[in-house]
Amino acid sequence: MKKIIAVDGPAGAGKSTVSKIVAARLGYTYIDTGAMYRAVALKILQTGKPAEDVTGDIDIKLDDAARVFLDGVEVTKEIRTPEVSRGASDVAKFGFVRKKLTELQRAMAIQGKVIMDGRDIGTQVLPNADLKIFLTATVDERARRRFEELKAKGNVTDFEQVRKEIILRDKQDSTREIAPLAKAEDAILLDSTNLTIEQVVAEILRLARS
Ligand code: DC
Repeated sequence: MKKIIAVDGPAGAGKSTVSKIVAARLGYTYIDTGAMYRAVALKILQTGKPAEDVTGDIDIKLDDAARVFLDGVEVTKEIRTPEVSRGASDVAKFGFVRKKLTELQRAMAIQGKVIMDGRDIGTQVLPNADLKIFLTATVDERARRRFEELKAKGNVTDFEQVRKEIILRDKQDSTREIAPLAKAEDAILLDSTNLTIEQVVAEILRLARS
């Protein structure tokens, strides 16, 4: 059984949805690293302070139910707004933010039996992971999924706007200088465009058990 699983890919590919299910089926811990970048962005928005001032002693905790705590306060919902999505992608370009969060992420993975998702897990955070997945889907499909997700939560949005935000984040995340979104050489490419959630889960479970 693979003890450490890294899942990377662009926004809306389904990383967190499938990683959560895989973690539950294997009895592993799920670590959502995007939530950590989102927490940094939220703190900047809340305090109005620059990234340098909020990063050093930031206290971010994820629990077993995938709840997110910032300085002891639950922010699971607050970090999912479009404003925070944009902010997270913006702060993710700073080396000092990445260094701090990478250290926290490695410490969280040390006990093994983890599935961690993000943009640079297979390339930077856990380069020795036992299984690396690069999960992707077409821009239209990812935008469609995000749009449906937002609609289901009662957020009124425009599909074209969601699609534009996804394209912008893809560009920012894959062209930044430090640890850009990239497929690790030894990662397995999984295109989920025409797959159901259950099919993606089944494939990752098969790979984890092989
Ligand atoms: O996965 P997500 O949409 O919650 O991530 C939010 C942003 O955080 C994403 O646009 C880029 C950044 N991020 C990152 O740079 N590295 C990671 N490992 C995870 C997220």
